[in-house]
Amino acid sequence: MQIRVPATTANLGPGFDSCGLALTLYLVLDVLEETDEWIIEHTLGAGIPNDASNVIIETALRLAPDLVPHRLKMTCDIPPARGLGSSSAAVVAGIELADQLANLALTKQEKVRFAAEIEGHPDNVAPAVLGNLVVGAKLDDTDFYVRHLFPDAAILVFIPQAELLTADSRAVLPDQLSYKDAVQASAIANVMIAAVLQNDLKLAGQMMERDRWHESYRSRLVPHLNEIREQTRKLGAYAACLSGAGPTVLIFTPHEKAAKILAELQHYDDTATVLRLEVDGSGARIIK
Ligand code: HSE
Repeated sequence: MQIRVPATTANLGPGFDSCGLALTLYLVLDVLEETDEWIIEHTLGAGIPNDASNVIIETALRLAPDLVPHRLKMTCDIPPARGLGSSSAAVVAGIELADQLANLALTKQEKVRFAAEIEGHPDNVAPAVLGNLVVGAKLDDTDFYVRHLFPDAAILVFIPQAELLTADSRAVLPDQLSYKDAVQASAIANVMIAAVLQNDLKLAGQMMERDRWHESYRSRLVPHLNEIREQTRKLGAYAACLSGAGPTVLIFTPHEKAAKILAELQHYDDTATVLRLEVDGSGARIIK
């Protein structure tokens, strides 16, 4: 059995901790034979555990503590700590693992709820489970999710070499915003989503670049964001925004402009990885 979970980009600018989009990079987990102890083989380096302390297995055991240990093999082309949902993908893989091995028959809604409890916010885990664009509100007593198709566009990601931990990127955010600022920030997010629902990426892109919740506070951690934004805007992109907590920059552009923008981004920093991705429409999948 194989479990495949997509990468995700969160926020889309002003949809902070609420909006996310699934993308075509994957964590792939092969579930192999039963063993005495959990083993997870991978080539991601010493920082990622090979035993039951791996987040995938820890998550699975939270849902199904009596699971029989297995040998697992993980391959992952989602770069860690870059704002592309690698930890959410691991959490969702753990939920799918428990669901399959313990026959829990969880609904997608239950999977999203459990994953969001672990991650603290639903913007990465919801599209990792459901695919495509998901707009969510995780409240204290309940949660709400709307999945929708994202408009047709080319999607580029500029992935810097250096990692940025989400905790560090959240530590620079303010504790409070004034009522007036919060109303404006919310209005910008509302127009962004309304424009996406109308397939109007020109307007959505303008709103994506006017976030008031997080990007300006994070700018000293991601100085390349504004430069890339200026450059890609001149070349006809719809928008450039921080992918999740960064440092990756996500660029939406008309297809016919994508090749030129991709080439410019490669010149901008030749240590960065620049990729053209698509929207993943299906979310986490089990292949038997
Ligand atoms: N919405 C989150 C943030 C995504 O921007 O901090 C990263 O987990």
